[in-house]
Amino acid sequence: MQSVSKLTNLQGKKVILRLDLNVPLNNGEITDTTRIDKVLPTIEFLLEQNSKIIILSHVGRPKGKVIKDLSLKPIQKDIEKKLNEKIKLIEQNIYEIKKDMLDNFNEKILLIENIRFYLDEEKNDTNFAKHLASLGDIYVNDAFSCSHRAHASVCEISKFLQSFSGLQLDLEISALKKITSSITKPVTCIIGGSKISTKINIIKNLISKFDNIIIVGAMANNLIEHNGYNIGKSLKEENVNSIVNDILSYSKEKNCNIIFPEDVIVANNLNGQPKIKELNQIKLDEMILDIGPKTIESICNIIDNTNTILWNGPAGYFENPNFANGSTAIAKKIVEKNKEDKIYSVVGGGDTVSLINSLNAVKEFNFVSTAGGAFLEYLEGKDLPGISALN
Ligand code: 3PG
Ligand code: MG
Repeated sequence: MQSVSKLTNLQGKKVILRLDLNVPLNNGEITDTTRIDKVLPTIEFLLEQNSKIIILSHVGRPKGKVIKDLSLKPIQKDIEKKLNEKIKLIEQNIYEIKKDMLDNFNEKILLIENIRFYLDEEKNDTNFAKHLASLGDIYVNDAFSCSHRAHASVCEISKFLQSFSGLQLDLEISALKKITSSITKPVTCIIGGSKISTKINIIKNLISKFDNIIIVGAMANNLIEHNGYNIGKSLKEENVNSIVNDILSYSKEKNCNIIFPEDVIVANNLNGQPKIKELNQIKLDEMILDIGPKTIESICNIIDNTNTILWNGPAGYFENPNFANGSTAIAKKIVEKNKEDKIYSVVGGGDTVSLINSLNAVKEFNFVSTAGGAFLEYLEGKDLPGISALN
C-alpha cells in the first residue's frame, strides 16, 4: 500500500478522492461531523499540492435512486465553511461527464453527487469503475469506513488507476495494527453491544491474542444467564448456547480471561428507577440496563494493569443518563491512564464514539475510529476489499 502523503508532484493532477462522508443527517442538518473533520487534512494536503480534487462519496442507502434528502449538499456546505474554499457540487449524470469537462470548473474541489444514486456502484461494476477512473490521473482511498464494501468507487476503480491510501486511512490501519499484530501486552478488549452472535468471530479472533476480554452490554446477559442466573426481562439473544460454550472453552484453551458483570443496575423499563442488584437478586419483571459498582471497580483494576486496550460497544443503555455510569466510568478510567501515558487505547463503533463525543473526550484516546462495520471486520481478521485493492 502506497500512501498519497509521500507524493510531491501533484501539480495540476486530477485526484479522484474516495471519502466516507456518510454522516448522520436530520432534516438536512448534519448531526455529527466527525467523519468530515477527520478527512480535512487529506483535502488540505491535496490543495497544498495544487491538485484538482474530485471527491466521490455516498451518504445513506439510496439503492440506485436519486433521493433529494440524500444529496451531498449539506456536506458540501460544511466542508466549504471549514476549509474556506469553494466546492462545485456536480449533479449531472456522471456517465455524461468527461475528464476534459472538469477543466471548465474553476473550483479546485469538485464533489460528485451521491455515488450510490447509481446502482452500478454497489454492483462493483467494471464499466462504471472504468468511467470513474477515466475522470482522473490518480486514485486515493481515504474511506477506511467503507473499505469493507466491494463497491466500484472503493474497490474496482483501483484496477484502472495508480492507487494510493489517504492520510486518515493510514492512521486507521496503523492504529488497528498496533492492537492486532504489534501489541504491547497485557492487552484487554472491552466489548459490548446487543448481539453476541454478531461479535462471535471478533471474540474468537481476539481470544488467541488478548489477555482479557471483558464482555458488557446486553450481550453479557447471555453469559449471566448461562451461569445459572435469572435475568428477568433483560434483552438477550435466543439460541446462542453453543456460541457461549465455544467462547468459554476456547478462552480456557488459549489462557484468555473472559470477564462479565458480577453485579448490575436494573429497572422495570428503559425509563424506570435504577436499582443496584447482585446477580442472584434480579426479579422477573426487571431488566439489566448497566453494570454495577463492583463490576466497574473490577474493570478499572484490569485497565490499571493493562498496556493496550481496545473498546467497542457501550456497557449499558447509555442513552438514558441513569444507565450511563458504567460506560462513563470506563471512558474516564482509560482517559486517566492515557494522561499518565500508561496505555495505548483504540476505540471504535458508532455507539461508543457517540458516547465519547458526548463526554467531549475524543482527543483523550490514542485513536478513535470513525468506522463501524469496517472496524469490526478488520478485527475479525477478514480482508477488506478496499484495502486489498490498494495492495
Ligand atoms: C458506514 O457508515 O458504515 C459506511 O459509510 C458504509 O455504509 P453502508 O453500511 O451503508 O455500506
Ligand atoms: Mg454501516
